[in-house]
Amino acid sequence: MSTSREHFSSKIGFILAAAGSAVGIGNLVGFPVAATKNGGGAFLLVYALFVFAICFPVMLAEMSLGRRSQKDPFGTYSSLSDRSPLWMLGGALSIITPFMIAVFYMVITVWLFGYLFQALTGGLETLAKPDTFGHFITSDSLFIYMIVVFGIVNLILVGGVKQGIEKAAKILMPALFIMLVMLVVYVLTLENSFAGVKYYLIPDFSKINASVVNSAMSQAFFSLSLGMGIMITYGSYLDKDDDIVSSAKFVAFLDTMVAFVAGLLILPAVFSFNPNTDASTLSDSSVSMIFNFLPQILLDLQNSIGYIGASIVAVMFFLLVFFAAITSLVSIIEVPVASMMDEAKVSRKTALTTITVLLIVFSVISALSTGKVEAFTQFIDYADKTHSVFDLIYDVFYDTVLPLNGLLACLFVMWRWKKTNFHKELEQSNAQYTHSLLSKYVDISLSTFIPVILAFIFVNTVALKYFGVSLF
Ligand code: PHE
Repeated sequence: MSTSREHFSSKIGFILAAAGSAVGIGNLVGFPVAATKNGGGAFLLVYALFVFAICFPVMLAEMSLGRRSQKDPFGTYSSLSDRSPLWMLGGALSIITPFMIAVFYMVITVWLFGYLFQALTGGLETLAKPDTFGHFITSDSLFIYMIVVFGIVNLILVGGVKQGIEKAAKILMPALFIMLVMLVVYVLTLENSFAGVKYYLIPDFSKINASVVNSAMSQAFFSLSLGMGIMITYGSYLDKDDDIVSSAKFVAFLDTMVAFVAGLLILPAVFSFNPNTDASTLSDSSVSMIFNFLPQILLDLQNSIGYIGASIVAVMFFLLVFFAAITSLVSIIEVPVASMMDEAKVSRKTALTTITVLLIVFSVISALSTGKVEAFTQFIDYADKTHSVFDLIYDVFYDTVLPLNGLLACLFVMWRWKKTNFHKELEQSNAQYTHSLLSKYVDISLSTFIPVILAFIFVNTVALKYFGVSLF
């Protein structure tokens, strides 16, 4: 293994890679659906507040940790805590979490790729049938799609930071922005689309309650790829003179903009399909929105632009979400890969191969747990329900452990690594940060209310998910 750590070649390369991680299925579908159901413009305001007031300081904390240590998340926690066993446990959690999230995100990306392939080969009509998804997720062809997706991710990751991650982000992210804008412009020309825009933007504050606030916070945290070790790992590929503060601002802004603009795509499409849509009947989950609901809307476009036209729009939509998912997958798989390279001192190729094999095993089990194999489908009981392996991974890692990891990162930075070191790290590459209002805010928020809020979310999720009781 070479002794010098590979770094991003430019600020824009880093911003695009980090934004590539942040922009994912959560932004393109999860956010618009959540906003529509939870008070439109009112949800947007709460969400934006959380992004900038809570998530942004956590992002600064994670990036500075990585840049300081020049190591993977485990190495970061252990080296900056002088190998304290308790903090090393926190470090281990920030490698296991991304690995497990990668498993279930991989399964969804494989479904996306399957739908993209079907749309590309003229199968939009089949995709729009109500029982297609159920058949598709239990079909054997899934494993062929899985091989292709693993192939693409490996092809990117084997190239390393500059030639792999950064290069892919520089191609995929601009392509994603262009496709998103083209689709929005097209959808807004459809009849009744403005009913969707109105529904999306007009605030309804009566819908805002404790559970909506909680879900806005979780959505924002997840959307910015926090608590997954990603921002620590990407931060470790930064040079001492790279400005973390301004890069993080760009990443948070880009991520929020994409989520916002995606709402201008999904909602108008839904309302142009049926102007009398009752938003409360819209699916809660991104999965059923993408795979059950949207194909019907896409097929319906054939009445105005013909079947081929509708298929082209469908391909563009699935390609858009697929690109977003690939750049997120790359970032999340890079965490265990980087950890193995740093901790076991092996080459990138060896680390990538080992992690890929492990991921394949878990992803296959999780893909088989959506109906194909009974033992994995009816895997475990909690909160009075039977859950599959897929559900279990989602509930434990995605919903529960993420805020815990965020909390640990805050506590670590403020009380173990110490705030003076944290601020020194940020000031090093941004002279104006010293004594700025932002630096005061980051200091106060990270040592007071941000950890309290994250702890609340963690405890509430545990109570709700595993014991079926809501604390607020
Ligand atoms: N930010 C991503 C999204 O919105 C979440 C994510 C990041 C998921 C990285 C997996 C890996 O979908």
